[in-house]
Amino acid sequence: MSTGSPRVLPADSGIAEAAAVLRTGGLVAFPTETVYGLGANALDARAAARIFEAKARPSFDPLITHLADPAELAKLVGDVPPAVAALADRFWPGALTLIVDRPAAIPPIVTSGLATMAVRVPDNEAARALIAAAGVPVAAPSANRFGQLSPTRAEHVVRGLGAAVDVVLDGGPTRCGIESTIVDARGDRPVVLRLGALPVEELEDAVGPVTVRPGSSGQPVAPGTLAAHYAPRTPLRFVADAQPPAGDSGRRGYLAFRERPAAGYAAVEVLSPTGDLTEAAARLFDGLHRLDAAGVEEILVEPVPEVGVGRAVNDRLRRAAATFDPAG
Ligand code: TXA
Ligand code: MG
Repeated sequence: MSTGSPRVLPADSGIAEAAAVLRTGGLVAFPTETVYGLGANALDARAAARIFEAKARPSFDPLITHLADPAELAKLVGDVPPAVAALADRFWPGALTLIVDRPAAIPPIVTSGLATMAVRVPDNEAARALIAAAGVPVAAPSANRFGQLSPTRAEHVVRGLGAAVDVVLDGGPTRCGIESTIVDARGDRPVVLRLGALPVEELEDAVGPVTVRPGSSGQPVAPGTLAAHYAPRTPLRFVADAQPPAGDSGRRGYLAFRERPAAGYAAVEVLSPTGDLTEAAARLFDGLHRLDAAGVEEILVEPVPEVGVGRAVNDRLRRAAATFDPAG
């Protein structure tokens, strides 16, 4: 646990001050449309090193570089493969992270020594204004300690990282609530390395069939795909329905998709009463943060429908559960 508090600034009026912190090698947490990012100047190896320290993130887990504008991509990396450029054209700004060759300007620590770099343009006004004002590409993983729940509110960042971050830009709850979809489109057929806020169906509508390879856990290609990740502190378990198991249900929490369970759980979060998967994704981490803070002994979760962004929601829940139940 980190002690102390970062400076929290409003996302609109705090931009200039936050940008100055980035330019001088500091860490700024900022909202994106997906989750809050923990940003540093991507051209500055020492600043990037501070991200790994603040998150207790293993050095083999590469960062995503964020740009203010799609036009910055060609300026930073030079030749962009046509299929990658087409995806950027279609989905940026947006919740799609693309893999390109690492340009010489980006120090290897940002990509954990990989010859490739993950990059995206976030669809959030404050994020893009911050990056533009800083005048540098911004390396930013999710602003949580490694392996723990991703932050969708400024409070989550303050609670999780404390004074390890210099400034938190508070832009309210994030719109999507789940991380970007990571795609490697350099080969013949695009490969989804991490399921995320941009549904596979939308990708396929735009570019035809893609290969989904999110479950290749153990391969540190995209550690957001490690089997155990995105985890609350409280043990989490998948269930098929809301009947509490025998014993004291009053000590358990329940994360429901649309219907509140009849039985008496100590704490319940309903992701979307209308069964809207986009709303469920937006509320996922916030609901888990609240259940985690409710002092229950165990959190039970039910899967959501395995379509659209629901696939990414189930992916996160499986990984959160895997921390405690390798078989789950
Ligand atoms: O929505 C998001 O993507 C958020 C916001 C802040 O932009 N960021 C995010 O970052 O989720 P992070 O660090 O939590 O996850 C980044 C993932 C990691 O699993 C990392 O391994 C993968 O991106 N990644 C980074 N560079 C890569 C590369 N060159 N090849 C494959 N995967 C890469
Ligand atoms: Mg993360």
